[in-house]
Amino acid sequence: MENLIEKVALFIHESPKVVVFTGAGVSTESGIPDFRSPDGIWARYDPEDFTIQRFVSDREARKRNWRLRKEMFSADYRPNPAHYAIAELERIGKLSCVITQNIDGLHHVAGNSEEKIVELHGTVKNAKCLSCDDRLPLGEVLKRIDQGEEDPHCEKCGGLLKAATVSFGEAMPPAEMRRAEQCSRECDLFIVVGSSLVVYPAAGMPLVAKRSGARLVIINYTSTDMDAIADAVIHNKAGAVMEAILEKVKERAI
Ligand code: APR
Repeated sequence: MENLIEKVALFIHESPKVVVFTGAGVSTESGIPDFRSPDGIWARYDPEDFTIQRFVSDREARKRNWRLRKEMFSADYRPNPAHYAIAELERIGKLSCVITQNIDGLHHVAGNSEEKIVELHGTVKNAKCLSCDDRLPLGEVLKRIDQGEEDPHCEKCGGLLKAATVSFGEAMPPAEMRRAEQCSRECDLFIVVGSSLVVYPAAGMPLVAKRSGARLVIINYTSTDMDAIADAVIHNKAGAVMEAILEKVKERAI
């Protein structure tokens, strides 16, 4: 693996514009389960419960959805070495943007600046009303649930409240999609960290980058359908790999 670390560090050294694309695998070493590993979230929750259709039509599914939000929100998750390595990439002036499918907000906590982070699937920090689109801190809604309100509705219009994340079947946020596509088109190097690359349109971004002439690196514990078109693939844990790569990049910069 040593020479793969060297190879990716050289790619970064040679690339003025680097995009990092992260999935749930970048946060598992922070204690947050991913979705499709054997112990992932979809082994404990039914993904059907997380479609927008089910959420709006089934009160019991909404209650299960709020239970998962509470699990995600109330724990005190901290960034891990992979997040810090991506923040370091920004500090040394290499990062064009970090496109994330994650809703945990850990890239911001690790030190990436707000304007460099593109959250394609929203964030677990806020809630939204599905009727008037009012936004409010998720903590406020969870407090209402703790006080016995099982199926919280908007206090302004009576509409359904939901975590401000993008559920299956929900439209992707247009501004974030445009920004992610632009960064993917313009970068010289696109690094995937911890994603199975099976959920579109997010998983289309590596293809946009590759088609625009960028090199593609995939750092993922298990193989993905895009391994064959990547310029380098490292099947190992994101924390140690990203830390080792940044060490090599900083050695080169001296
Ligand atoms: N280091 C490297 N890779 C890891 C690690 C780790 N420590 N832990 C897990 N992985 C890998 C797994 O092998 C898996 O291939 O990360 C990948 C995570 O894949 P998924 O669980 O499918 O997560 P993700 O790709 O982010 O899913 C995309 O699907 O359910 C929706 O909205 C949800 O944003 C999510 C989207």
